[in-house]
Amino acid sequence: MLVSAEEMLKKARREGYAVGQFNINNLEWTKAVLTAAEEMASPVILGVSEGAGRYMGGFRTVHAMVAAMKDSLGITVPVALHLDHGSYEAAMECIDIGFSSVMFDGSHYPIDENIDKTKAVVAQAKEKGVSVEAEVGSIGGEEDGVSGSGELADPEECRRIASLGITMLAAGIGNIHGKYPSDWQGLDMKRLKEIGETTDRIPLVLHGGTGIPDAMVEEAVSYGVSKINVNTECQIAFTAAVRRYIEEERDLEGKGFDPRKVLTPGTEAIRRVVKEKIRLFGSTKKV
Ligand code: 13P
Repeated sequence: MLVSAEEMLKKARREGYAVGQFNINNLEWTKAVLTAAEEMASPVILGVSEGAGRYMGGFRTVHAMVAAMKDSLGITVPVALHLDHGSYEAAMECIDIGFSSVMFDGSHYPIDENIDKTKAVVAQAKEKGVSVEAEVGSIGGEEDGVSGSGELADPEECRRIASLGITMLAAGIGNIHGKYPSDWQGLDMKRLKEIGETTDRIPLVLHGGTGIPDAMVEEAVSYGVSKINVNTECQIAFTAAVRRYIEEERDLEGKGFDPRKVLTPGTEAIRRVVKEKIRLFGSTKKV
């Protein structure tokens, strides 16, 4: 059974660690993330963007695949299936289909509209025990067609949205999707601390988890970050490993062209990244 992210994140916030959200792109990704989390005895959140959902044949297909694979592989750690940066319509659709968690990203709306729409998503989600993530400010860069200016979240707006019954809050604190530019100023810890203090200990979400220095991750967790999203780092590791396989011409040896063989180094590379992140985030054996 897939579980809401609520219990795992409340525990993480209480005990001072973070649960990883790893975005999935296909069957190999799903298998890699699930088996790595099981090996680490860590709760895990599988993130699905709208683009990745379309790529995999629609949210219904994704839900069926994840739920069935969790059972077939005998995964025992808590697993949440989460819509990442969803529109209002996608959030409602995923709640209906059986996702156990959704993000409604209304950060591009004026705050009052963001609040109204978030409220409607929460009402629908509550009926089904689905956890909800909201966003204030914006995450810089671009992910699957969702781009943001990197605007810092306003603590008062965070307080207003955190009081709507949401499970977790993503706040823009200078974080960016994709690789960080060399002149990146780092996370705005002062703002993060302020947001942590005004939002009544709600679990905070750090998007753009790729390439943030370890010490900065640890400091962010100490201010209330309880969920960290990672996508690009797994993509880079996967592609580099598959590239190596082809460059070494292993596809030309025997039945090396078999897609199961070609993709295995990539899958193993994702597993390595996921395990490393789980260790860094501190969620090992937190089930
Ligand atoms: P990265 O792609 O930078 O790891 O960010 C992932 C993310 O925030 C998903 O919402």
